[in-house]
Amino acid sequence: MHSAIIPPDFRLPPEQVPETVVEQLQHEERDECIRRIKRLLRAQDATLVAHYYTDPDLQLLADETGGHVSDSLDMARFGHEADASTLVVCGVRFMGETAKILNPEKRVIMPDLHADCSLDLGCPIDAFDAFCNQHPDRVVVVYANTSAAVKARADWMVTSGSAVDVVRRLAEQGNKIIWAPDKYLGEYVQAQSGADMLLWQGSCVVHEEFKGRELAELKRRHPGARVLVHPESPAPVIAQADVVSSTTGIIKAATELEADTFIVATDKGIFYKMQQAAPHKTYIEAPTAGRGATCKSCAHCPWMAMNSLTKLLDTLRRGANEIFVDEAIITRARRPIQRLLDFTTRRGQPVYGNNDA
Ligand code: 13P
Ligand code: SF4
Repeated sequence: MHSAIIPPDFRLPPEQVPETVVEQLQHEERDECIRRIKRLLRAQDATLVAHYYTDPDLQLLADETGGHVSDSLDMARFGHEADASTLVVCGVRFMGETAKILNPEKRVIMPDLHADCSLDLGCPIDAFDAFCNQHPDRVVVVYANTSAAVKARADWMVTSGSAVDVVRRLAEQGNKIIWAPDKYLGEYVQAQSGADMLLWQGSCVVHEEFKGRELAELKRRHPGARVLVHPESPAPVIAQADVVSSTTGIIKAATELEADTFIVATDKGIFYKMQQAAPHKTYIEAPTAGRGATCKSCAHCPWMAMNSLTKLLDTLRRGANEIFVDEAIITRARRPIQRLLDFTTRRGQPVYGNNDA
């Protein structure tokens, strides 16, 4: 199996990672904000699509107004099927771009256009294009957490919930793979599928901070707990997981597994839905502190936190923060995304898998 590591490092310098700032509103201010947002959503024929890592109030608003809260694959699918003429995407920029690529005729807006993602930022199109050009014999598979331009350069887009199945199928058909941008997810997919993969060296600033040694200690203190891990985490963390899965799969596992205590290695925004789905269970954050800890805002994505009630209200009021994607890029980027949607539709919803890494 070939696993050359090229290019050497696409880790985002710490000074480019913002502090996580979570909006705190007084009760009356919050309620008034929610009332006004609901009115504007109706008036503008707009549907709210939110990721599990966003503020619980935004998730609640999406649920209460006929919108949707989910993982990145399902957000794309919902946005594609929704009737509304405006999609309000509460998440990070690549999610808004994916919604626009699949729905070029719709208006797609986001509370904050600076809501980036370290994986997307760590995979600039020019460097990635040059890398792909060096390996023309390989199928290019990119994670959803990439820019529209990177998707346009790809043969397939995958999400955390679908990556193993897609790459395994491609490998069975005799293909060799270029994978970008997350090296940890890439290593995991490689181990699961046995595929021949060249891995781009990007990483998620949130998941990268989960620590294997401290997780082992925490497990010893909670021997009955099951460990749920998102596959953007480093291998020593994944190795200790009972379940490795997408955000949807992690929530599903918490509801379906018999255990009543779970150690969770992903962004802590997910606890809101986990508590809703299985309220009597106990959820513990996987450790991020410890040897080598560098995170500024542990276990909560600084860019997801940029989505706030007041910014959403302001965006709707001003008609601001619209996502635009170049038409030629839309045409090319739609193909790898549509391939994934067709693949997962044929297979049915991906389920979480046990850890056999
Ligand atoms: P999911 O597709 O599992 O929701 O992951 C998206 C993400 O950005 C995780 O950090
Ligand atoms: Fe990107 Fe990580 Fe934030 Fe997910 S949690 S959006 S991968 S930086």
